[in-house]
Amino acid sequence: PIKKMWGGRFEEGGDQLVDQFGASISFDQEMAKEDIMGSLVHVKMLKATQILPAADAEKIIAGLNELLTELKEHGLNFDVANEDIHMNIEALLTKKIGPVAGKLHTGRSRNDQVATDFHLYVKERLPKVVAAIRGLQGALVKLAGENVETIMPGYTHMQHAQPISYGHYLMAYFQMFQRDVERFQFNQQHTDLSPLGAAALAGTTFPIDREMTTKLLGFKQPYANSLDAVSDRDFALEFLSNASILMVHLSRLCEEVIYWCSYEFSYIELADAYSTGSSIMPQKKNPDMAELIRGKSGRVFGSLVGLLTTMKGLPLAYNKDMQEDKEGVFDAVKTILPSLKVMTGMMKTLKVNKDQMAHATHHDFSNATELADYLATKGVPFRQAHEIVGELVLKGVKTGRDLADITLAEFKQIDPRVEEDVYQVLKPAVAVQRRNSLGGTGFDQVRAQIAAAQQILAAD
Ligand code: ARG
Repeated sequence: PIKKMWGGRFEEGGDQLVDQFGASISFDQEMAKEDIMGSLVHVKMLKATQILPAADAEKIIAGLNELLTELKEHGLNFDVANEDIHMNIEALLTKKIGPVAGKLHTGRSRNDQVATDFHLYVKERLPKVVAAIRGLQGALVKLAGENVETIMPGYTHMQHAQPISYGHYLMAYFQMFQRDVERFQFNQQHTDLSPLGAAALAGTTFPIDREMTTKLLGFKQPYANSLDAVSDRDFALEFLSNASILMVHLSRLCEEVIYWCSYEFSYIELADAYSTGSSIMPQKKNPDMAELIRGKSGRVFGSLVGLLTTMKGLPLAYNKDMQEDKEGVFDAVKTILPSLKVMTGMMKTLKVNKDQMAHATHHDFSNATELADYLATKGVPFRQAHEIVGELVLKGVKTGRDLADITLAEFKQIDPRVEEDVYQVLKPAVAVQRRNSLGGTGFDQVRAQIAAAQQILAAD
């Protein structure tokens, strides 16, 4: 085992298995860029405050810049013996510029360093997540615009309930994703804080300038409390929580896509690119991508529960447990971004079988509420109207007759106030069009919703 950067107090050599077990370089190298950026800002501040002689600071800055270029051009070589990204970067810097590299860590600890890197990482990804959600919202709004008057069954309990507009259905998902956007944007407020300068836990005796490092790192403000700065992982928990809710939405949408492209429904057909075949059954066209997104929700929820559990009993301030905070977040980023992009493409390319959707509303008695409402407007108390229509449905189910098959004479027997116009009301498309209460499925309402959504997207 090699000599540790913190090895002064130790007498015995390490244990290889323990070193491996304690190391985080296998995954925290994901924050290599953030780590170098954080160090660059830190050393610039050390120079400006004259904590370090300018000449030393310049050497460190030049070395870090070289590392940054190398990282971008061909990547850096890390060694598990150096434990984590922070000590690996410092080791590489030392190799480059010699022992003066050791001055970089003045007035800093790995505790504020790792927190800084992690904030930078999440802060940079949040707008990408929002942009990806915006892309999906755009696809939903477009498809909704083409399907305002596409009639489909609306379901409760997976049973036909009332006919609705497919555009209205799509806009329901737009609204869910809108809340996701808002949650991720709020998440940014709690991520846009600089922990740098909190040092190990208590601040430092060096006359550091936290305002300067905050500004140079592009953070809105510094953490007000050094203990909080190094102990806080709320921003990561919020990210995982927001990502989990987002995955719930994607998963529900996928569930319906999967049902709806089945033979029984045949409401939609996925583009070939978003489907896969079977190695044995030649006729198959499977909605694998929708299933995969639905399935991937599990790992994101797992990461949330994992980090909540890791954090829940931790005393202040830093504890090594917190090294477990990163992989779930990295994984969530790498799960939700492609999930959103694949979902967007899927929605952009799917084919809507408008006739099949509309057909499904024709003999399903989903106009029963219309008839009950009609009778109620003629003065029949709604409870009584409900009972009457229920009996008509029962009779219809037994005799194979729809409500629209009932003759006017038969209707007159039920209530003499029923007129010819009842047949108009019983048409599914008319039923949808007439649900014009605010936020309802009526065509005008759906159009208004789409217009408002377009404004939100355009303002972004
Ligand atoms: N690799 C560590 C982590 O990810 C960095 C911070 C280590 N600090 C410490 N005092 N051991 O959490």
